[in-house]
Amino acid sequence: MTTPPPMISPELLERVVNASVDGIVVAEREGNEDILIYVNQGFEHLTGYSAEDILYRDCRFLQNGDNQQPGLDRLRKALAAGETCKEVIRNYRKDGSMFWNELSITPVHNDEDHLLYFIGIQKDVTDLVEAQQELEKLKSRLEND
Ligand SMILES: Cc1cc2nc3c(=O)[nH]c(=O)nc-3n(C[C@H](O)[C@H](O)[C@H](O)COP(=O)(O)O)c2cc1C
Repeated sequence: MTTPPPMISPELLERVVNASVDGIVVAEREGNEDILIYVNQGFEHLTGYSAEDILYRDCRFLQNGDNQQPGLDRLRKALAAGETCKEVIRNYRKDGSMFWNELSITPVHNDEDHLLYFIGIQKDVTDLVEAQQELEKLKSRLEND
């Protein structure tokens, strides 16, 4: 049986991935770090960092030292176990401004089930989180009146 031709060329795939407003990154495990080997343009726009700034670094620089967050504890456990996870955490752009990052991480294995890479998707959910926080404030004000 012959293999069917690919439906999408690598060039078109890269163009499509770059067109995403969400960040899409690929990281490779090296020791106890997951170093970035690919970031799309959505990631560059979202964070203000260019690919040259951050390739071969672990993504934790986006936390700017704000690394005691419940979502991060769950994320660390999932990464250590090689499991998929989705958490909303505080991150900081190159200019220091904060945004809420809905981060999903998925491990990618090869045919022999060896862990090869992680794919990460970063979505700016700041408006949503701030609206939820505002709602909580209004609710507690109503309850206390
Ligand atoms: C593919 C991938 C993408 C990641 N993206 C982010 C990110 O956007 N923001 C972030 O704060 N951490 C991100 N992380 C998590 C950090 O790289 C790091 O694994 C995490 O902070 C746990 O390490 P630590 O215990 O040194 O903090 C990502 C990890 C992986 C594997």
